[in-house]
Amino acid sequence: MTGSAFLEVNGVNKYFGSLHVLKDCSFSVTKGQTVVLIGPSGSGKSTLLRCLNLLEPPSAGSIAFEGREITGDLRNAHKLRAQIGMVFQNFELFQHLNAVENIMLAPMKVLGYSRLDAHDLAVDLLHKVHIPDRADHLPDELSGGQQQRVAIARALAMKPKLMLYDEPTSALDPEMIREVLDVMTELSADGMTSVCVTHEMGFARRAADRIIFMERGSIIENATSEVFFSGEASDRAKQFLNQILH
Ligand SMILES: Nc1ncnc2c1ncn2[C@@H]1O[C@H](COP(=O)(O)OP(=O)(O)O)[C@@H](O)[C@H]1O
Ligand SMILES: [Mg+2]
Repeated sequence: MTGSAFLEVNGVNKYFGSLHVLKDCSFSVTKGQTVVLIGPSGSGKSTLLRCLNLLEPPSAGSIAFEGREITGDLRNAHKLRAQIGMVFQNFELFQHLNAVENIMLAPMKVLGYSRLDAHDLAVDLLHKVHIPDRADHLPDELSGGQQQRVAIARALAMKPKLMLYDEPTSALDPEMIREVLDVMTELSADGMTSVCVTHEMGFARRAADRIIFMERGSIIENATSEVFFSGEASDRAKQFLNQILH
């Protein structure tokens, strides 16, 4: 372990039964970096992301978070997950709670915030994601782009050290993609360490420090975004980019 990497993934393998889904995946993320993970459907992106917060325990290999090995003892996985925010394709908001209540829940339950403090925090976060006027709306009264921004605010309420995004804009109508990517870009610019599975290459160019390209469970490219987008990417990665850009 180098000690300097914030997140260090070392030789991670994952099997589902006999299906070998992650093959010797290794990469590291330094504090404040934004890493974009791309690759064809079924290549293992979601599984790799879920391994990072131990929603899926790796079958082999190790992951260190802030210099501490997290894969050895899964009993503390919930403590780790409290420090890592995750945003999903389908928002996964609590349908019976309005926007502000969705955001208040975890700080009250997990961090011991009073109702008043949690409410103040939630209102601040709704400003941060640019929908302060939607506090008392239920999820089904919000657009997809607004729901996803509530989901991001809900993750931020736990003051995460790392944000994981799994195709956060894939379920959105095209006109709502930008407002969600803008919030993610602002968070990255503020120094939030992030790993994002997304095919939004405009976002990757703007916000990513590194691009990781996966195929069939293996990381086949891990490059700075300058190198990746300057035409120096591997032929396979270029071919994939062509497919998603046309
Ligand atoms: N819980 C699971 N049980 C069995 N197979 C799974 C499970 N989750 C994912 N897989 C399989 O693992 C492979 C990688 O899936 P996934 O990580 O979702 O890929 P991606 O996110 O890149 O589309 C796929 O073949 C998928 O069917
Ligand atoms: Mg996926």
